[in-house]
Amino acid sequence: MDRASFDTCRLYYFSGTGNAKHVSEWMKSEADSLGIPTTLTAISELTDRRKPEMTSRALVGFIAPTHGFNFPPIMFHFILRFPRAKNNSAFIMNTRAGMKAGKIFLPGLSGLAQLFTALVLLFKGYRIVGMRPVDLPSNWISLHPGLKQNVIESLFKKRNAEVHQFAQTIFSGKKDYKALYDIVQDLIISPIAIGYYLIGRFIIAKSFVASSDCNRCGLCIKQCPVQAIKWVADRPFWTFNCESCMHCMNGCQKKAIETAHGYIALVIFIINSFIFVWLYRNLSLEAFFAQHFNKFGIEILTFVVDGTVYLGMFFISYRVLHFFMRYRWFNKLVVYTSFTHYKFWRRYVYGLHAHK
Ligand SMILES: Cc1cc2nc3c(=O)[nH]c(=O)nc-3n(C[C@H](O)[C@H](O)[C@H](O)COP(=O)(O)O)c2cc1C
Repeated sequence: MDRASFDTCRLYYFSGTGNAKHVSEWMKSEADSLGIPTTLTAISELTDRRKPEMTSRALVGFIAPTHGFNFPPIMFHFILRFPRAKNNSAFIMNTRAGMKAGKIFLPGLSGLAQLFTALVLLFKGYRIVGMRPVDLPSNWISLHPGLKQNVIESLFKKRNAEVHQFAQTIFSGKKDYKALYDIVQDLIISPIAIGYYLIGRFIIAKSFVASSDCNRCGLCIKQCPVQAIKWVADRPFWTFNCESCMHCMNGCQKKAIETAHGYIALVIFIINSFIFVWLYRNLSLEAFFAQHFNKFGIEILTFVVDGTVYLGMFFISYRVLHFFMRYRWFNKLVVYTSFTHYKFWRRYVYGLHAHK
């Protein structure tokens, strides 16, 4: 590809806590400085995501965080429906969970985020000219404490320089496939991406609660990029549409949104200690599978049964949890058994603000 093969650039991004948004803006500023007419679109703000318009000879960039070793479903579905190429090139950038141990920068894991997207775009006729992961601060504070400010700043500084360099490469008509260095580990972890897509993400969506510190300002509901939070009985309620992008939890001014770790542990304990025991032993489901199916069939059926039980249980128990959260003693019990409630856990707010 040379510079003459595109005359405009279209950047499409999704971002929960700002990392992917910053990367998109860095790419745009580089394109602007080179005089390439460029549009920047937050796909969550499109009124109709099904039919983005496509012109021939545009270079298209897709930029989003990595969620569960893949692009978040909103981006992934957008790309699946994206128009076929009309003599277009494309590049893919996924922001990942960057961390730091002492002076060593630790990368995140892409899984299928790059590989699956590249396959879909190739299938649609795009020439892939860039595949680049960008390790910015991890925002997944349901899983670990938010990073320290100095680590966050050093990650931003390093990645800003790298993204500008990547932009210069791509916009000058050259190629960069750095994402492919991780192909072996990405393929190994890819089955987890499928499990996350089918089951995991829904369970995470049902782990958020508003503590009694919530002042009903409604910011989480207003700012949710996918309108997944609604008022139920005067409290925020997370629906299955939630992308677990962490915008609400990191953006809440009162730090009133928690991941209910204690509650999740309890539900998982009930599922494993009672429901599965009853299903597989008392109802002899295991013996029934073994009698009628081969090894592969048993694996699939067990996945389907376990997944259905998990989703069903979290669906029901989240309603019960939400109902009881109105009682102060219960609210306290849930909040005090959530790691996110404690100060040492920190939030990730840096990406939500503008930085030049
Ligand atoms: C639900 C969830 C799942 C995540 N899964 C991954 C992952 O599989 N691999 C990874 O490297 N980072 C993962 N992360 C971290 C984010 O991809 C990373 O922090 C990203 O830079 C956030 O971008 P954003 O600020 O634009 O939302 C995950 C974060 C969340 C909230």
